[in-house]
Amino acid sequence: MTKLKFALIGCGRISANHIKALIDNYQDAELVSVCDILKNRAELKADEYLIKAQERNIPIVKPNVYSDYREMLQKEDVNVCVVSTESGYHAEISFYCLNSKKHVLVEKPMAMSILDADKMIQIAQKNNLKLAVCHQNRFNPPIQKLRQAIDDGRFSRIFAGTARILWNRNREYYDKAKWRGTWKLDGGCLINQCTHNIDLLQWIIDSEIDSVYGQTGNYLHPYIQTEDYGSIIIKFKNGAIGNVEGTVCVYPKNLEETLTILGEKGTVVIGGLALNKILVWDFEDKIDSLEEIQQKYNTEIPNVYGNGHSPLYRNFIDSIRNNSSPLIDGYEGKKSLSIILMAYKSQKCSKAISYDKDLNISSEYFEGML
Ligand SMILES: NC(=O)c1ccc[n+]([C@@H]2O[C@H](COP(=O)([O-])OP(=O)(O)OC[C@H]3O[C@@H](n4cnc5c(N)ncnc54)[C@H](O)[C@@H]3O)[C@@H](O)[C@H]2O)c1
Repeated sequence: MTKLKFALIGCGRISANHIKALIDNYQDAELVSVCDILKNRAELKADEYLIKAQERNIPIVKPNVYSDYREMLQKEDVNVCVVSTESGYHAEISFYCLNSKKHVLVEKPMAMSILDADKMIQIAQKNNLKLAVCHQNRFNPPIQKLRQAIDDGRFSRIFAGTARILWNRNREYYDKAKWRGTWKLDGGCLINQCTHNIDLLQWIIDSEIDSVYGQTGNYLHPYIQTEDYGSIIIKFKNGAIGNVEGTVCVYPKNLEETLTILGEKGTVVIGGLALNKILVWDFEDKIDSLEEIQQKYNTEIPNVYGNGHSPLYRNFIDSIRNNSSPLIDGYEGKKSLSIILMAYKSQKCSKAISYDKDLNISSEYFEGML
């Protein structure tokens, strides 16, 4: 079977994970072109792909380099575009790629508004293309094991879950990339730092959203536009309550990132650098012990980005090959975005926002929500 031809748009920090994922999946995927408006970054990325493949004796051809993705798509024969630019550009670039009949894998958040997310989904559907969002932590072995426990009914009834992201991001972090902490290109800590854990909370609780109440504020980062602390209560239609506490204000350094799930017959806490370690695993059925489950599923990761991009690419490639839905398709990617936008709206309206009754977030963007 011929390999799928990939193009990478945006060659910044996270692009190293995309390069690794492409190499890990080299039997089915090849990177044919890379693009960054800063052309030297694209050049470096093309070299990185070549060098990393050579280190593993994988035969590849160096990708072509571009600074304009429109020109790239006119000149190159590409099946899949990976969009890993600043968040505020995801939608417009994805529209162009999807309208050019390319499958799209987009970094999180998929867009900055529900209107744009819906438009991405619609264009993909109209053109019979796959759209997937990089919530790679869903593929972490502890998270996969937790999801299996849910599917096996081991918790009996889940009544609550909590996503806690208690991190520190200082001025140096924001100074390194001027787009961070802006409404237009990034959003606040909820969308940047907390979106993966919010995605997992709703995926594990596995229910439609009933309503959302949120409060956010900027306490310690006067030089950014957005919130640096957010608290959200989500009521799910299955009756469970979801809690989110997310911040980049913790003194003096990162404290924890955890996902806690409370059920009638089970309690699980997953933590580690990026939800890669099982901390508590306690079920009434006693099928497995904490020690054996930790030994089997806890993983080491190099940084907070984790190892999930490679299995996410595998899943995306399979979805294209088999014409099935990727695990995190556009509808799935939209869920964490909806929760966060509903929290902002809740704060603005001083009430819980009902998903069905008084939610009309289609036209609302992050900008100016605080
Ligand atoms: N999945 C994850 O865990 C994870 C982790 C970090 C970042 N991200 C997301 O990835 C995205 C990128 O983050 P980053 O830290 O790599 O940012 P970055 O600033 O390091 O890189 C973004 C790159 O995109 C380039 N770019 C901007 N406009 C472009 C265009 N029109 N065409 C081509 N290139 C363009 C910029 O020049 C820059 O090199 C963000 O949306 C962020 O939220 C995801």
